[in-house]
Amino acid sequence: MKIFFAPSGKKYESETPITVLEAARKVGADLDSVCGGRGVCGRCQIELSIGAHAKHGVTVAEENFSPFTETEKRYAEKRGLKEGRRLGCCVTILKDAVIDVPPESQTRKQIVRKSADERPVSLDPTIRLYYVTVAEPDMHNPFGDKERLTQALQAVHGIDGERLFFPLAVLKDLQKILRKENFAVTAALYTPAGAAEKSEVIALYPGYADRVFGLAVDIGSTTIAASLCDLFDGAVLASAGIMNPQIRYGEDLMSRVSYAQMNDNGAEEMTKAVRSALNDLIQDLSATAGVSADKIVECVAVGNPVMTSLFCGFSPTELGFAPFATVTSEAIFANAAQFDLSALPASAKIYIPPLIAGHVGADAVSVAVTERPFDAEEKILIADVGTNAEIYFGNRERLLAASSPTGPAFEGAQLSAGQRAADGAVERVRIDPETLLPVYQIIGCELFSDDPDFERSIEKTGVSGICGSGVIEAVAEMYRAGVMTSDGVIKESLIEKTAGRSAGRVEKDGRVCKYILRDAEPQIAITQNDVRAVQLAKAALYAGCKLLMNKFGAEKPDRILLAGAFGSRIDPLYATALGMLPDCSPEKVKAVGNSAGAGARILLLNQAARTEIAAVVKKVEKIEIALEKEFQELFVNAIAVPNKIDDFSLLQTVLSMPPKAAADTETGGRSGGRRGRRDRA
Ligand code: FES
Repeated sequence: MKIFFAPSGKKYESETPITVLEAARKVGADLDSVCGGRGVCGRCQIELSIGAHAKHGVTVAEENFSPFTETEKRYAEKRGLKEGRRLGCCVTILKDAVIDVPPESQTRKQIVRKSADERPVSLDPTIRLYYVTVAEPDMHNPFGDKERLTQALQAVHGIDGERLFFPLAVLKDLQKILRKENFAVTAALYTPAGAAEKSEVIALYPGYADRVFGLAVDIGSTTIAASLCDLFDGAVLASAGIMNPQIRYGEDLMSRVSYAQMNDNGAEEMTKAVRSALNDLIQDLSATAGVSADKIVECVAVGNPVMTSLFCGFSPTELGFAPFATVTSEAIFANAAQFDLSALPASAKIYIPPLIAGHVGADAVSVAVTERPFDAEEKILIADVGTNAEIYFGNRERLLAASSPTGPAFEGAQLSAGQRAADGAVERVRIDPETLLPVYQIIGCELFSDDPDFERSIEKTGVSGICGSGVIEAVAEMYRAGVMTSDGVIKESLIEKTAGRSAGRVEKDGRVCKYILRDAEPQIAITQNDVRAVQLAKAALYAGCKLLMNKFGAEKPDRILLAGAFGSRIDPLYATALGMLPDCSPEKVKAVGNSAGAGARILLLNQAARTEIAAVVKKVEKIEIALEKEFQELFVNAIAVPNKIDDFSLLQTVLSMPPKAAADTETGGRSGGRRGRRDRA
C-alpha cells in the first residue's frame, strides 16, 4: 500500500499495516511526538484525507484505517480533539492513505506573531522532549540507570544511544528523578544544527512533561531585556527588563572598559553584576509566566561586544583601543553553570551569536537576522543608533557593516537640558517659520504645549528635559525656521526680533546665542553647544552611512530601516531633515523597533537561523571607519545642516527646506513658510 504525507510530499510504501507515526518516522515526514506513541502527548494529531487523489493515483476510504481507539477516546475526553482529528500513533493504516499533518503537529512550523517586535518565525528549536518509561533495575540484567534510559529512548523514539551524551550535572540527579514517578521520565535533548550526530541530555523531568522554555535576552548597556518563550509554539509568555547594574561602574561602554583597565578585578565585578541581574530577571519572568525555572532550557543572549564579553567573563580591555581585538568572533556555545546562572538547570544551553568585528557585535548580527539585508534585492541601509551606531548597507549581492561613534548626544547626555527618553522629556518640537514660536510635546502626553489642556495633563509628569529625538527635531526645526544657519550658528540678529517673549526667544549666552524652547521651570533652551553636539553626532552617523554607500557604489539607499529603541522614537523625516540619514523616499524610511531582541527570539526558536547567520557573518565586509581617509571629508561635509554638498530632493517632496543661500543669511531661511510646516501628528 502507498502512504502519502502532506504537506511534506513524503511517500512510504508498506507491505504490512503500520501506524501513521511509524510510517512518518520511517520516511522522515515531519510528525511530532513527545510520548513516543502512548496516546498521552497529543502532538501527533493528523487528519485522514478521504476521497480520490488523482495526483497520487489512489482513492482513500474510511475503511483504509483502524477505527477510533479507546486511547483516542480517553485523550479526546481529557484534553479535547478537534473534529476530524486523530492521534497518528493510534491509527493503523490498512490500505492506501493520504495523511494531512496540520501545522501544530509539525516539529518545524511557521509561527506568525502579531506585534511589531514579534516577526514570523519558523519554529525549529534545538531542544525537544522525549517521554519514556524505563525498565526497573534487575539483578539479572545489570545495566545502570543511564543505560536503561538510553535503551528506552532508543526503543521508543529511535534515538541512537551511541550518540547520546549525558553531562555529569544530569547524571547526578538521574536516580532520584527516575524513581519519583515510577521510572517514567521525560528527557530534554539538545541537538543543535550541524551536530545531528550527537545529542545531549540537558534535563530530566519526573513523569510526563510536555513543555520547555527558552529565553531571548538583549543585554544593553543600560537595560537588560528578556522574553520567555515556549519552545513548542514560540509564544512569548512574559517579557521584562531590568537596569543593567554595571551602570555603577560607568554610564557608557567606554567608561566600563576603562573600569576594567584600571581595576584588577574590574571585569570580574562587572561579569558578576550582569549575571546576577540576569538570574533575578529569570526568576521574575518564571514567576510572571507561572513557569518553573527548571524548565527553562536555553538562553540566547545578544549585546554589543563589550556587553557580551563581560557576560562571558572576558575582559573587554582590548575593545578600548584600535584594532579592537575580540577574544573570538565566533558564536559561543556554553551551559548555564559556566555562566553562574543558577536559576536555570546547570546544563541549560547558552548561545551567543557570532559578531562581525570590533564594535559590530552580536546585537548588530541579531538585527541582520531579523531584517535580512543579506536577502534583499533593494539596497538597504540599516542603522541601530545609540552611543555607537551600527550600520549595514547593501543587499544580497554585497553587504557592508560599520560602527560609527555617534557619542552620547542622541541619548540626551551632555546636552544643557538633556535627559534619557522617559516621561516628561520633550520629544517633538515644531517651530512656526513666521513667528519663530515653538510648540513641543513630551513623552507621556499626547497634547502639544499650546493646547489649553496641556498644563493640566502634564501635572503628574511635569516637563523634565529634552531627549535625543526631541533635540533632533528642535535643531532640524531651528534650521527650517531660519533660527540658525546651515553651519549651525544660532542667529544673533534674531535677538531683537524675539526680545520680550518668553518661549521662542533668541538670547545671548556668553559669546554665542541660545534659543529658548520653554521659559518655565525648568527652562529648556537649545544652546550653541547643544547644536554642536547634535551636529557632531549626526555627522558621524551620516558619514558612516555615506562611506558604506560609496564603497558599495550607490547614490541613495532604496530603503532605510531604523532599529533600536531610539530609532523607534525618531521621526525619520526630521532625522533626514537634520542630515542624520541620507536622502531616501520618505515612505521607504521606517522604524523597525527592537530588531536585536526580535533576532534573539528567532535564534532561540530556529536553529537553522544560527547556521545561516554564521555563514552570512563571514561574508559581511567590515569597514573600519578609523582607517578610512574618506570618512573625515564626509564627516566635515555632514556637519552642515542638512549637508554641505549632498542633495535632499526626495525629502523635499514632503517637507520643505529653506534654500541654502537664504538659510545662511542672518535673517533669512523662512522661505519654507507655513506651506512646509509638517503636521504635528
Ligand atoms: Fe503522543 Fe501520539 S505520540 S499521543
